[in-house]
Amino acid sequence: MSFIAERINRIKPSPSSMAGQRARELRATGRDIVSLTAGEPDFDTPENVTQAVMRAMAESKTKYTDVGGTPELKAAIREKFRRENQLDYATNEVIASNGGKQIIFNALMSTVDHGDEVIIPAPFWVSYPDIVLLAGGTPVFVQGPPEKGFKLQPQDLEKAITPRTKWLVLNAPNNPSGALYSQQELKALAQVLLRHKHVWLLSDDIYEHIVYDQRKFFTMAQIEPELKNRTLTMNGVSKAYAMTGWRIGYCGAPAELIKAMTKLQSQSTSSASSISQAAALEALTGPQDYIAQRTAIFQSRRDKVVSLINDVPGLSCHLPEGAFYVYPSCRDLIGKKTPSGQVLTSDQDFILYLLEAENLAVLQGEAYGASPFFRISYATSLDVLEEGCARLKRACAQLS
Ligand SMILES: Cc1ncc(COP(=O)(O)O)c(C=O)c1O
Repeated sequence: MSFIAERINRIKPSPSSMAGQRARELRATGRDIVSLTAGEPDFDTPENVTQAVMRAMAESKTKYTDVGGTPELKAAIREKFRRENQLDYATNEVIASNGGKQIIFNALMSTVDHGDEVIIPAPFWVSYPDIVLLAGGTPVFVQGPPEKGFKLQPQDLEKAITPRTKWLVLNAPNNPSGALYSQQELKALAQVLLRHKHVWLLSDDIYEHIVYDQRKFFTMAQIEPELKNRTLTMNGVSKAYAMTGWRIGYCGAPAELIKAMTKLQSQSTSSASSISQAAALEALTGPQDYIAQRTAIFQSRRDKVVSLINDVPGLSCHLPEGAFYVYPSCRDLIGKKTPSGQVLTSDQDFILYLLEAENLAVLQGEAYGASPFFRISYATSLDVLEEGCARLKRACAQLS
């Protein structure tokens, strides 16, 4: 009998975290690795935030705080939801945790029982299925058709709902596809959810601020107020403010759910770090202008990388509407032979070939539930992106 619990054997390590680690290990052995795997902005934490952190340390704000966050941070979260999403949450309807990931973990662990189903549109962020499995639930995958921008279609949602469905997890802008739902598209999904009153919605809005071409971001509770009493609206400072290492995420949700999540957090991590909470407070309440400046930089990188990829025979790449990933298809390369005679049978084979042949690290679509695709993060400099795409082109040109 294994000493390790069955629940741990049910899950796998996060493929994106592992890929980053593998790239660092290979680099340490002297290999000239170009890694396009990072799920984090390459920008620094804004200056006003680091200044606020120095002040917080000088003022000894270094003690335990309330489990669900300091009163100041909770007030800032409520104000953020009012200002940016026209959503009114009471103080007992918000919580701050150690990253958006802990919000999702707390929410699913607090609500999913053995046999409960959670609908996850594919492609999806790699951690949702494993958190559902850890909670004892069953992930139910619904493909978003590539020709519809990988977006969940209302009729497919309808078909996937059963009496055991507990949640729909909706993430937009999406990691990895970049899909963003318009107001009309959200309304059409809302119509389905309104018919199934036992299904809750987890809206993962972590990429809210990274949207392109003057598109507007909407979140479900704002679009369909009737769903607010069964919606968890999740967000965080990681992506918008380039603060991944600070580990602050937050959400608004009905008080009963927040109470359960706070109870769970009180028995696991307690509060998020007091200093990180001070950092998040400044991020949410300080100047916001750099968000637009950085998004403009991401947009020019997106345009560059999409055009470079579409220049490679055998690859095709749609234009994402948000986030900082592209999710190109490598369908036309499946069945081709590498110079060493290996036949590529999957996107997994393809990404391993890129690593071997050209020291290029990207992520296999299989990890995101939609194949044969692969994910490239363009949260890196144009120089690195150009070098990465040149390697991609060279590797593809050697296939026969
Ligand atoms: C879709 C999505 N949700 C949530 C997270 C978690 O972010 P964090 O825990 O840094 O707030 C990530 C991070 O990559 C993500 O891509």
